[in-house]
Amino acid sequence: MKKSTSVKTSLFVTCVVFLTACGGGSSETNTVVSGAIPIGIAVAQTSNVALLGQEQVAGAKIAQKYFNDKGGVNGTPIKLVFQDAGGDENSAINAFQTLINKDKVVGIVGPTLSQQAFSADPIANRAKVPVFGPSNTAKGIPQIGKYIARVSAPVAVVAPNAVDAALKKNPQIKKVAVFYAQNDAFSKSETESFQQAVKGKGLELVTVQKFQTSDTDFQSQATNALNLKPDLVIISGLAADGGNLVRQLRELGYKGLIIGGNGLNTSNIFPVCKAVCDGVMIAQAYSPEQPGEVNTAFRQAYVNQYKTEPPQFSAQAFAGVQVYVEALKAIDEKSKISETYLSKLRTELNQQRLIGKYNTPLGEISFTPEGEIVQKEFYVAQIKMSKDGQNGKFVFLK
Ligand code: ALA
Repeated sequence: MKKSTSVKTSLFVTCVVFLTACGGGSSETNTVVSGAIPIGIAVAQTSNVALLGQEQVAGAKIAQKYFNDKGGVNGTPIKLVFQDAGGDENSAINAFQTLINKDKVVGIVGPTLSQQAFSADPIANRAKVPVFGPSNTAKGIPQIGKYIARVSAPVAVVAPNAVDAALKKNPQIKKVAVFYAQNDAFSKSETESFQQAVKGKGLELVTVQKFQTSDTDFQSQATNALNLKPDLVIISGLAADGGNLVRQLRELGYKGLIIGGNGLNTSNIFPVCKAVCDGVMIAQAYSPEQPGEVNTAFRQAYVNQYKTEPPQFSAQAFAGVQVYVEALKAIDEKSKISETYLSKLRTELNQQRLIGKYNTPLGEISFTPEGEIVQKEFYVAQIKMSKDGQNGKFVFLK
Protein backbone atom coordinates (compact mmCIF):
# COMPACT_ATOMS: atom_id res chain seq x y z
CA MET A 1 0.00 0.00 0.00
CA LYS A 2 2.65 2.39 1.18
CA LYS A 3 4.93 1.34 -1.61
CA SER A 4 2.40 2.03 -4.35
CA THR A 5 1.73 5.51 -2.92
CA SER A 6 5.37 6.41 -2.99
CA VAL A 7 5.78 5.00 -6.49
CA LYS A 8 2.84 7.08 -7.65
CA THR A 9 4.14 10.19 -5.93
CA SER A 10 7.52 9.91 -7.56
CA LEU A 11 5.89 9.25 -10.92
CA PHE A 12 3.81 12.38 -10.43
CA VAL A 13 6.90 14.44 -9.64
CA THR A 14 8.62 13.01 -12.72
CA CYS A 15 5.66 13.92 -14.89
CA VAL A 16 5.55 17.47 -13.58
CA VAL A 17 9.25 17.98 -14.14
CA PHE A 18 9.36 16.25 -17.54
CA LEU A 19 5.92 17.01 -18.90
CA THR A 20 6.37 15.06 -22.11
CA ALA A 21 7.71 12.01 -20.33
CA CYS A 22 4.28 10.79 -19.28
CA GLY A 23 1.35 10.02 -21.50
CA GLY A 24 2.62 12.05 -24.45
CA GLY A 25 2.23 15.34 -22.59
CA SER A 26 -1.57 15.27 -22.55
CA SER A 27 -2.55 18.04 -20.16
CA GLU A 28 -5.24 15.82 -18.67
CA THR A 29 -2.89 12.95 -17.89
CA ASN A 30 -0.50 15.33 -16.16
CA THR A 31 -3.09 17.15 -14.11
CA VAL A 32 -3.88 16.48 -10.50
CA VAL A 33 -6.65 18.11 -8.52
CA SER A 34 -5.08 20.71 -6.28
CA GLY A 35 -7.22 22.48 -3.71
CA ALA A 36 -11.02 22.17 -3.74
CA ILE A 37 -12.29 19.23 -5.79
CA PRO A 38 -14.30 20.47 -8.81
CA ILE A 39 -17.64 18.78 -9.57
CA GLY A 40 -19.50 20.01 -12.65
CA ILE A 41 -23.18 20.95 -12.56
CA ALA A 42 -24.60 21.24 -16.09
CA VAL A 43 -28.32 21.93 -15.73
CA ALA A 44 -30.71 24.41 -17.33
CA GLN A 45 -30.26 27.88 -15.91
CA THR A 46 -31.93 29.58 -18.88
CA SER A 47 -34.79 28.72 -21.29
CA ASN A 48 -38.13 27.17 -20.32
CA VAL A 49 -36.24 24.16 -19.00
CA ALA A 50 -34.88 26.39 -16.21
CA LEU A 51 -38.30 25.88 -14.62
CA LEU A 52 -36.83 22.49 -13.69
CA GLY A 53 -33.13 23.41 -13.71
CA GLN A 54 -33.30 26.16 -11.11
CA GLU A 55 -34.53 23.61 -8.57
CA GLN A 56 -31.50 21.47 -9.41
CA VAL A 57 -29.13 24.39 -8.86
CA ALA A 58 -30.73 24.95 -5.45
CA GLY A 59 -30.35 21.29 -4.44
CA ALA A 60 -26.73 21.09 -5.59
CA LYS A 61 -25.78 24.27 -3.70
CA ILE A 62 -27.34 22.98 -0.49
CA ALA A 63 -25.35 19.76 -0.91
CA GLN A 64 -22.11 21.70 -1.42
CA LYS A 65 -22.58 23.64 1.82
CA TYR A 66 -23.78 20.59 3.76
CA PHE A 67 -20.85 18.37 2.80
CA ASN A 68 -18.20 21.10 3.03
CA ASP A 69 -19.44 21.99 6.52
CA LYS A 70 -18.89 18.33 7.38
CA GLY A 71 -15.28 18.43 6.16
CA GLY A 72 -15.75 17.82 2.42
CA VAL A 73 -13.67 14.92 1.15
CA ASN A 74 -11.57 13.96 4.19
CA GLY A 75 -10.72 17.61 4.83
CA THR A 76 -10.61 18.85 1.23
CA PRO A 77 -13.67 20.89 0.19
CA ILE A 78 -15.60 20.30 -3.00
CA LYS A 79 -16.25 23.17 -5.41
CA LEU A 80 -19.28 23.02 -7.68
CA VAL A 81 -18.65 24.47 -11.13
CA PHE A 82 -21.87 25.54 -12.84
CA GLN A 83 -22.23 25.67 -16.63
CA ASP A 84 -25.65 26.51 -18.06
CA ALA A 85 -26.95 23.54 -20.07
CA GLY A 86 -29.90 25.58 -21.39
CA GLY A 87 -32.85 23.81 -22.92
CA ASP A 88 -31.46 22.19 -26.07
CA GLU A 89 -28.85 19.68 -27.11
CA ASN A 90 -26.15 22.15 -28.21
CA SER A 91 -26.22 24.10 -24.96
CA ALA A 92 -25.85 20.88 -23.00
CA ILE A 93 -22.96 19.73 -25.22
CA ASN A 94 -21.16 23.06 -24.78
CA ALA A 95 -21.64 22.96 -21.01
CA PHE A 96 -20.27 19.41 -20.87
CA GLN A 97 -17.25 20.25 -23.04
CA THR A 98 -16.36 23.27 -20.92
CA LEU A 99 -16.64 21.28 -17.70
CA ILE A 100 -14.55 18.43 -19.09
CA ASN A 101 -11.79 20.35 -20.87
CA LYS A 102 -11.56 23.75 -19.21
CA ASP A 103 -12.91 23.30 -15.70
CA LYS A 104 -11.40 19.82 -15.45
CA VAL A 105 -14.12 18.50 -13.19
CA VAL A 106 -13.93 15.02 -11.68
CA GLY A 107 -17.54 14.26 -12.64
CA ILE A 108 -20.72 15.92 -13.88
CA VAL A 109 -24.28 16.15 -12.58
CA GLY A 110 -26.50 16.94 -15.58
CA PRO A 111 -28.10 17.68 -17.95
CA THR A 112 -31.73 18.43 -17.08
CA LEU A 113 -33.51 16.70 -19.96
CA SER A 114 -33.16 13.17 -21.30
CA GLN A 115 -33.44 14.78 -24.74
CA GLN A 116 -30.18 16.60 -23.98
CA ALA A 117 -28.57 13.60 -22.28
CA PHE A 118 -28.77 11.46 -25.42
CA SER A 119 -26.53 14.06 -27.16
CA ALA A 120 -24.28 15.32 -24.35
CA ASP A 121 -23.65 12.11 -22.38
CA PRO A 122 -21.77 10.33 -25.21
CA ILE A 123 -19.23 13.19 -25.14
CA ALA A 124 -18.52 12.66 -21.43
CA ASN A 125 -18.51 8.92 -21.98
CA ARG A 126 -15.86 9.19 -24.69
CA ALA A 127 -13.79 11.52 -22.47
CA LYS A 128 -14.16 8.99 -19.61
CA VAL A 129 -15.82 11.50 -17.30
CA PRO A 130 -18.56 10.17 -15.00
CA VAL A 131 -22.04 11.63 -15.36
CA PHE A 132 -25.03 11.47 -13.05
CA GLY A 133 -28.33 12.21 -14.77
CA PRO A 134 -30.14 14.16 -12.04
CA SER A 135 -33.54 14.08 -13.76
CA ASN A 136 -33.08 12.03 -16.93
CA THR A 137 -35.84 9.48 -16.61
CA ALA A 138 -36.25 8.20 -20.17
CA LYS A 139 -35.60 4.56 -20.91
CA GLY A 140 -32.01 3.88 -22.00
CA ILE A 141 -30.01 6.57 -20.17
CA PRO A 142 -27.53 4.33 -18.25
CA GLN A 143 -27.11 2.28 -21.42
CA ILE A 144 -25.55 5.32 -23.19
CA GLY A 145 -22.20 4.16 -21.84
CA LYS A 146 -19.99 2.94 -19.05
CA TYR A 147 -19.53 6.43 -17.57
CA ILE A 148 -23.25 7.26 -17.48
CA ALA A 149 -25.40 6.64 -14.41
CA ARG A 150 -28.43 8.35 -12.96
CA VAL A 151 -29.95 9.30 -9.61
CA SER A 152 -33.37 9.75 -11.24
CA ALA A 153 -35.51 6.62 -11.28
CA PRO A 154 -36.78 5.71 -14.75
CA VAL A 155 -40.29 6.37 -16.05
CA ALA A 156 -41.17 2.67 -15.98
CA VAL A 157 -40.91 2.52 -12.18
CA VAL A 158 -42.24 5.99 -11.32
CA ALA A 159 -45.06 6.83 -13.75
CA PRO A 160 -47.43 3.86 -13.17
CA ASN A 161 -47.74 4.84 -9.48
CA ALA A 162 -49.79 7.86 -10.53
CA VAL A 163 -52.25 5.66 -12.46
CA ASP A 164 -52.77 3.47 -9.38
CA ALA A 165 -53.34 6.58 -7.24
CA ALA A 166 -55.86 8.01 -9.72
CA LEU A 167 -57.82 4.74 -9.71
CA LYS A 168 -57.82 4.74 -5.94
CA LYS A 169 -59.26 8.27 -5.96
CA ASN A 170 -61.83 7.44 -8.62
CA PRO A 171 -62.47 3.73 -9.17
CA GLN A 172 -65.06 4.66 -11.84
CA ILE A 173 -62.37 5.71 -14.33
CA LYS A 174 -62.80 3.85 -17.62
CA LYS A 175 -61.76 6.09 -20.52
CA VAL A 176 -58.30 7.61 -20.63
CA ALA A 177 -56.91 10.29 -22.96
CA VAL A 178 -53.14 10.55 -23.21
CA PHE A 179 -51.12 13.56 -24.41
CA TYR A 180 -47.38 13.68 -25.03
CA ALA A 181 -44.69 15.97 -26.45
CA GLN A 182 -43.48 14.20 -29.55
CA ASN A 183 -40.26 16.25 -29.85
CA ASP A 184 -39.00 15.19 -26.42
CA ALA A 185 -37.28 11.87 -25.72
CA PHE A 186 -38.39 11.67 -22.11
CA SER A 187 -42.04 12.47 -22.93
CA LYS A 188 -42.07 9.78 -25.63
CA SER A 189 -40.62 7.27 -23.19
CA GLU A 190 -42.92 8.26 -20.34
CA THR A 191 -46.08 8.06 -22.43
CA GLU A 192 -45.19 4.47 -23.33
CA SER A 193 -45.06 3.59 -19.62
CA PHE A 194 -48.33 5.40 -18.97
CA GLN A 195 -50.07 3.75 -21.91
CA GLN A 196 -48.87 0.35 -20.81
CA ALA A 197 -50.12 0.99 -17.25
CA VAL A 198 -53.51 2.13 -18.58
CA LYS A 199 -53.91 -0.99 -20.70
CA GLY A 200 -52.60 -3.18 -17.88
CA LYS A 201 -55.39 -1.90 -15.65
CA GLY A 202 -57.97 -2.81 -18.28
CA LEU A 203 -58.82 0.84 -18.99
CA GLU A 204 -59.77 2.10 -22.43
CA LEU A 205 -57.17 4.33 -24.09
CA VAL A 206 -59.58 6.54 -26.10
CA THR A 207 -56.99 8.76 -27.77
CA VAL A 208 -53.29 9.62 -27.92
CA GLN A 209 -52.71 13.30 -28.73
CA LYS A 210 -49.33 14.74 -29.69
CA PHE A 211 -47.85 18.21 -29.23
CA GLN A 212 -44.48 20.02 -29.16
CA THR A 213 -42.76 21.31 -26.01
CA SER A 214 -42.66 24.72 -27.72
CA ASP A 215 -46.48 24.78 -28.21
CA THR A 216 -48.65 27.23 -26.32
CA ASP A 217 -52.00 26.53 -28.02
CA PHE A 218 -53.55 23.10 -27.42
CA GLN A 219 -57.13 23.86 -28.47
CA SER A 220 -57.35 21.34 -31.28
CA GLN A 221 -55.75 18.40 -29.40
CA ALA A 222 -57.73 19.19 -26.24
CA THR A 223 -61.02 19.45 -28.15
CA ASN A 224 -60.34 16.19 -30.01
CA ALA A 225 -59.72 14.41 -26.73
CA LEU A 226 -62.62 15.92 -24.78
CA ASN A 227 -65.08 14.95 -27.53
CA LEU A 228 -64.32 11.35 -26.52
CA LYS A 229 -65.39 12.07 -22.92
CA PRO A 230 -62.36 10.75 -21.02
CA ASP A 231 -62.52 10.50 -17.25
CA LEU A 232 -58.73 10.60 -16.86
CA VAL A 233 -56.19 12.69 -18.80
CA ILE A 234 -52.47 11.92 -18.65
CA ILE A 235 -49.87 14.45 -19.83
CA SER A 236 -46.21 13.76 -20.63
CA GLY A 237 -44.50 17.03 -21.44
CA LEU A 238 -42.41 19.71 -19.75
CA ALA A 239 -43.39 22.40 -17.28
CA ALA A 240 -44.44 25.32 -19.50
CA ASP A 241 -46.29 23.32 -22.18
CA GLY A 242 -47.70 20.89 -19.62
CA GLY A 243 -49.02 23.72 -17.42
CA ASN A 244 -50.63 25.42 -20.41
CA LEU A 245 -52.27 22.20 -21.52
CA VAL A 246 -53.74 21.68 -18.03
CA ARG A 247 -55.12 25.23 -18.11
CA GLN A 248 -56.68 24.86 -21.56
CA LEU A 249 -58.27 21.48 -20.73
CA ARG A 250 -59.98 23.09 -17.73
CA GLU A 251 -61.00 26.16 -19.77
CA LEU A 252 -62.66 23.80 -22.24
CA GLY A 253 -64.68 22.31 -19.39
CA TYR A 254 -62.82 19.10 -18.53
CA LYS A 255 -63.65 18.18 -14.93
CA GLY A 256 -61.99 14.74 -14.49
CA LEU A 257 -58.65 13.82 -12.96
CA ILE A 258 -55.39 14.86 -14.62
CA ILE A 259 -52.06 13.09 -14.15
CA GLY A 260 -48.97 15.11 -14.98
CA GLY A 261 -45.70 13.33 -15.71
CA ASN A 262 -42.24 14.01 -14.35
CA GLY A 263 -41.73 17.09 -16.53
CA LEU A 264 -44.59 18.85 -14.68
CA ASN A 265 -43.18 17.99 -11.26
CA THR A 266 -42.41 21.52 -10.13
CA SER A 267 -44.18 24.35 -8.35
CA ASN A 268 -43.00 26.45 -11.30
CA ILE A 269 -46.13 25.26 -13.15
CA PHE A 270 -48.29 27.12 -10.58
CA PRO A 271 -47.95 30.52 -12.32
CA VAL A 272 -48.83 28.80 -15.63
CA CYS A 273 -52.08 27.01 -14.71
CA LYS A 274 -52.75 28.98 -11.50
CA ALA A 275 -55.99 27.95 -9.71
CA VAL A 276 -56.71 25.16 -12.22
CA CYS A 277 -53.43 23.40 -11.38
CA ASP A 278 -55.52 22.24 -8.42
CA GLY A 279 -55.95 18.47 -8.31
CA VAL A 280 -53.21 17.51 -10.80
CA MET A 281 -51.62 14.25 -9.63
CA ILE A 282 -47.88 13.68 -10.07
CA ALA A 283 -45.77 10.66 -9.10
CA GLN A 284 -42.75 11.49 -6.96
CA ALA A 285 -39.32 9.96 -6.48
CA TYR A 286 -38.87 12.02 -3.30
CA SER A 287 -40.87 12.86 -0.21
CA PRO A 288 -39.88 15.66 2.18
CA GLU A 289 -41.06 13.30 4.96
CA GLN A 290 -38.35 10.77 4.13
CA PRO A 291 -36.83 9.91 7.53
CA GLY A 292 -33.08 10.01 7.88
CA GLU A 293 -30.41 12.42 8.99
CA VAL A 294 -29.39 13.68 5.58
CA ASN A 295 -32.92 14.39 4.42
CA THR A 296 -33.73 16.13 7.69
CA ALA A 297 -30.76 18.45 7.20
CA PHE A 298 -31.50 18.95 3.50
CA ARG A 299 -35.18 19.69 4.16
CA GLN A 300 -34.34 22.14 6.95
CA ALA A 301 -31.80 23.98 4.81
CA TYR A 302 -34.24 24.17 1.88
CA VAL A 303 -37.17 25.35 4.02
CA ASN A 304 -34.98 27.97 5.72
CA GLN A 305 -33.90 29.36 2.38
CA TYR A 306 -37.02 29.03 0.22
CA LYS A 307 -39.85 28.91 2.83
CA THR A 308 -41.38 25.87 1.17
CA GLU A 309 -40.83 22.10 1.13
CA PRO A 310 -38.02 20.86 -1.13
CA PRO A 311 -39.05 19.46 -4.53
CA GLN A 312 -37.94 16.22 -6.14
CA PHE A 313 -35.57 17.89 -8.63
CA SER A 314 -33.63 19.55 -5.77
CA ALA A 315 -33.44 16.31 -3.80
CA GLN A 316 -32.11 14.39 -6.81
CA ALA A 317 -29.43 17.00 -7.54
CA PHE A 318 -28.40 16.88 -3.87
CA ALA A 319 -28.18 13.08 -4.11
CA GLY A 320 -25.95 13.29 -7.20
CA VAL A 321 -23.46 15.55 -5.40
CA GLN A 322 -23.66 13.38 -2.28
CA VAL A 323 -22.77 10.17 -4.08
CA TYR A 324 -19.75 11.85 -5.68
CA VAL A 325 -18.58 13.16 -2.29
CA GLU A 326 -18.94 9.79 -0.57
CA ALA A 327 -17.29 7.92 -3.42
CA LEU A 328 -14.42 10.45 -3.47
CA LYS A 329 -13.93 9.91 0.27
CA ALA A 330 -13.64 6.17 -0.26
CA ILE A 331 -11.11 6.70 -3.07
CA ASP A 332 -9.08 9.16 -1.01
CA GLU A 333 -8.87 6.71 1.87
CA LYS A 334 -7.20 4.20 -0.44
CA SER A 335 -4.85 6.64 -2.16
CA LYS A 336 -4.68 10.42 -1.88
CA ILE A 337 -6.76 12.31 -4.43
CA SER A 338 -4.22 15.14 -4.42
CA GLU A 339 -1.65 12.68 -5.80
CA THR A 340 -3.86 11.02 -8.41
CA TYR A 341 -3.93 12.07 -12.04
CA LEU A 342 -7.28 13.48 -13.11
CA SER A 343 -7.89 10.87 -15.79
CA LYS A 344 -7.29 8.07 -13.29
CA LEU A 345 -9.41 9.79 -10.66
CA ARG A 346 -12.34 10.11 -13.07
CA THR A 347 -12.19 6.42 -13.88
CA GLU A 348 -11.87 5.42 -10.21
CA LEU A 349 -14.78 7.70 -9.31
CA ASN A 350 -16.89 6.12 -12.02
CA GLN A 351 -16.23 2.65 -10.58
CA GLN A 352 -16.40 3.57 -6.90
CA ARG A 353 -19.74 5.39 -7.08
CA LEU A 354 -21.50 2.27 -8.33
CA ILE A 355 -20.21 0.11 -5.47
CA GLY A 356 -21.59 1.91 -2.41
CA LYS A 357 -24.93 2.32 -0.66
CA TYR A 358 -25.92 5.90 0.10
CA ASN A 359 -28.38 7.33 2.61
CA THR A 360 -29.63 10.28 0.61
CA PRO A 361 -32.71 12.50 0.78
CA LEU A 362 -34.25 9.95 -1.65
CA GLY A 363 -33.75 7.25 1.00
CA GLU A 364 -31.15 4.52 0.65
CA ILE A 365 -29.96 4.24 -2.92
CA SER A 366 -27.43 2.10 -4.75
CA PHE A 367 -26.71 1.32 -8.39
CA THR A 368 -26.70 -1.59 -10.77
CA PRO A 369 -23.35 -2.27 -12.48
CA GLU A 370 -24.84 -0.52 -15.52
CA GLY A 371 -25.48 2.71 -13.58
CA GLU A 372 -29.22 2.43 -13.00
CA ILE A 373 -30.43 3.72 -9.65
CA VAL A 374 -31.85 1.22 -7.19
CA GLN A 375 -34.35 3.08 -5.03
CA LYS A 376 -37.05 1.71 -2.76
CA GLU A 377 -39.70 4.36 -2.14
CA PHE A 378 -41.96 6.21 -4.55
CA TYR A 379 -44.92 8.46 -3.84
CA VAL A 380 -47.76 10.34 -5.48
CA ALA A 381 -48.71 13.92 -4.68
CA GLN A 382 -51.68 16.05 -5.66
CA ILE A 383 -51.48 19.78 -6.21
CA LYS A 384 -53.53 21.93 -3.87
CA MET A 385 -53.97 25.55 -4.99
CA SER A 386 -55.44 28.51 -3.13
CA LYS A 387 -58.73 29.77 -4.61
CA ASP A 388 -57.04 32.85 -6.13
CA GLY A 389 -54.38 30.62 -7.73
CA GLN A 390 -51.54 32.57 -6.14
CA ASN A 391 -50.25 29.82 -3.84
CA GLY A 392 -50.03 26.09 -4.12
CA LYS A 393 -48.40 23.02 -2.69
CA PHE A 394 -47.91 19.33 -3.33
CA VAL A 395 -49.96 17.24 -0.92
CA PHE A 396 -48.57 13.69 -0.60
CA LEU A 397 -51.22 10.97 -0.82
CA LYS A 398 -51.20 8.14 1.69
N1 ALA B 1 -37.59 13.72 -16.47
C1 ALA B 1 -37.45 14.64 -17.54
C2 ALA B 1 -36.47 14.14 -18.55
O1 ALA B 1 -35.98 13.06 -18.40
C3 ALA B 1 -37.13 16.01 -17.07
O2 ALA B 1 -36.20 14.79 -19.52
